Amino acid sequence: MSLIKLSHISKTFKLDTVDVNAVVDVSLAVERGEFVAIMGHSGSGKSTLMNIVGLLDRPTSGEYRLDGNVVSTSMSDGAQAKLRSGFIGFVFQNFNLLPNMTTLGNVALPAMYAKGTPTTPDPSSGRRGGANDRAKKLLEQVGLSHRLKSRPNQLSGGERQRVAIARALMNEPKVLLADEPTGNLDTKSGQEIMTILEGLNKAGMTILLVTHNDELAERTHRTVRMKDGRIIV
Ligand SMILES: Nc1ncnc2c1ncn2[C@@H]1O[C@H](COP(=O)(O)OP(=O)(O)OP(=O)(O)O)[C@@H](O)[C@H]1O
Ligand SMILES: [Mg+2]
Repeated sequence: MSLIKLSHISKTFKLDTVDVNAVVDVSLAVERGEFVAIMGHSGSGKSTLMNIVGLLDRPTSGEYRLDGNVVSTSMSDGAQAKLRSGFIGFVFQNFNLLPNMTTLGNVALPAMYAKGTPTTPDPSSGRRGGANDRAKKLLEQVGLSHRLKSRPNQLSGGERQRVAIARALMNEPKVLLADEPTGNLDTKSGQEIMTILEGLNKAGMTILLVTHNDELAERTHRTVRMKDGRIIV
C-alpha cells in the first residue's frame, strides 16, 4: 500500500470570470521511504499539488489515499487538521516562523496543537517540558543547539530554514513536504538544507521536494515533472 496515492486529482480555482485549472487529472503514488522531486515552470501547479497532499487544500475531484485512508472531500476542517498534524510536516520557501518566538518556541509549537493538547498550555506542565526536550533534540540534529534563544530575525536564512525543518519534524510526521525550501537561500546554504533532507530520508522519512534546481533534484530518487497542471513524462 502506497503512503500517498493520488488518483485523477484535479483542482480548479474559480475566479470571477475564469476557471483556473491548477492541477489536472494527476495520478501519483509515493511509497514509504521515497524521496521525490517535483519540478516544473512557475504556475505549473506544484504548490497546489503539495497543498492537496499536505491537507491544506482539497481537490475539486479525484481520490486521495493517505496511508490507505481515503481523505474524503467531505471531511470536516477539524478532522482534516487533525490528520495533517499527525502525518504531515511542512517546510516552505519563506520559512513561516513566528517572529516573536524563540527558535526553541517555534520548534516546540506544533506539539501544542497536536493530539488534543490545549493551545495555551500551563508552562509548568510536564507536557510542555517534554515538547521542549524534543525540540532541543531536533535543533541539535539540524546543528542549531547554540541558537535556542535566538529569534528568527537574528538568524541567517539557512539557519531559519533549519529551524523550520526541526519544527516540521516535531510531531513525528510520516511525510515531509518541502516547497522550494532552498528557493531563498544561497547555493551553500541550499546544499546544507539538502544534506539535512538526505539524512532524514536515509533514516526513513518520505520526502516530497519542490525545486527549480536540477542538481538538487538529481540527489533524490526520482523527479516528477509538471506542466500546465499535469504530470508529464
Ligand atoms: N488560491 C488560488 N486562487 C486562484 N488561482 C490560484 C490559486 N492558487 C494558485 N492559483 C493558480 O494556479 C496555478 C498553479 O499555481 P501554483 O502556485 O500551484 O504553481 P507553482 O507551480 O507552485 O508555481 P511557482 O513555481 O511559481 O511556485 C497558477 O496559474 C496560479 O495562478
Ligand atoms: Mg509554488
